[in-house]
Amino acid sequence: MSSRILLTGGAGYVGSHTYVALVDAGHEVVILDNFSNARRSVPDRLAQITGRPVQVIDGDVRDAGLLSRTLVDQEIEAVVHFAALKAVGESMARPLDYFDVNVGGLTNLLRAMETAGCRRIVFSSSATVYGVPDETPTPETAALRAMNPYGQTKIMSEQMLGWLRQSNPDWAVGTLRYFNPAGAHGSALIGEDPRDIPNNLMPLVAKVAMGELERISVYGDDYDTPDGTGVRDYIHVEDLARGHVLSLQSLLDTGESHLVNLGTGRGHSVLEVIAAYKRACNRDLPYTLADRRPGDVPVYVASADKAAEVLGFRTERDIDEMCASSWAWVSNLKARA
Ligand code: WQD
Repeated sequence: MSSRILLTGGAGYVGSHTYVALVDAGHEVVILDNFSNARRSVPDRLAQITGRPVQVIDGDVRDAGLLSRTLVDQEIEAVVHFAALKAVGESMARPLDYFDVNVGGLTNLLRAMETAGCRRIVFSSSATVYGVPDETPTPETAALRAMNPYGQTKIMSEQMLGWLRQSNPDWAVGTLRYFNPAGAHGSALIGEDPRDIPNNLMPLVAKVAMGELERISVYGDDYDTPDGTGVRDYIHVEDLARGHVLSLQSLLDTGESHLVNLGTGRGHSVLEVIAAYKRACNRDLPYTLADRRPGDVPVYVASADKAAEVLGFRTERDIDEMCASSWAWVSNLKARA
């Protein structure tokens, strides 16, 4: 059944893929984005993919008046909330910006939703809330530890949502803790397109494959992992988008809240990712072994069972499909430049 959905941060990496998945599922979607970390050409490409005009509001989640007007005027029935700052390193340098946008912005949004009587929200959280996990695969019951301001804002946001639900059981909240999003849409028209030099591994490997960077620095090869390099649970962004659609549908159908990891349940090391990308681009990908990156943990892998039980969600794409779709996307990006 079609619902009218507000997608904050919908021009961003995960947001834009979720936009396509929501439209494909028959929903009417309004994007609100300030384009601080998204190109203004994204909505046109979303229109190309979906074959439908895209409704975009150029705005900031810290603008309470805009949020209230949008929720009422657009008759929004549920919100999928991506709009946030998300770089761990940056959050160490700019903590107040992270609390302002991520916590202040969410507070504004929830207050505007309450006023408008819209009490269904899918919240984009992160595996970063686990800090240094005691166990891997890491279940949702694991202890939460803030290792940086970014992770702290996600823990605070989850706690805010919990107290809000306690204050008014009419609220239905889907909290999704993603692990490592990677890859791009099959059309190669949208994908990860970081504004500055990327921090994340996959876009950096992509830049080496494109000849834009000379080599990859492998941050540490002395971890307690099979090949000594860091292991992460990479999840294809199209699988991740589908997880959001299932979360939203569950809220609309049941009015019950849920909190789940979104990951594959299996990890890949840095060297395995580099090898997979080589298979995708058929080019040499030089790398050097470098010191560990401060704050990194050896292994981050999701326990993915709860999402399967609660939402019927299982990932369908593997690391080779993530690399192949990323390579097609960055090649197309260069061709269009
Ligand atoms: C992956 C692995 C690095 C770059 C981050 C955020 C997390 C989430 C996903 C938002 C690690 C290694 C990396 C490089 C390397 N974002 N690496 N050389 O740190 O697991 O998670 O992105 O929700 O919150 O913390 O991802 O891609 O930076 O690193 O060796 O040049 O690749 O050490 O083992 P990370 P990443």
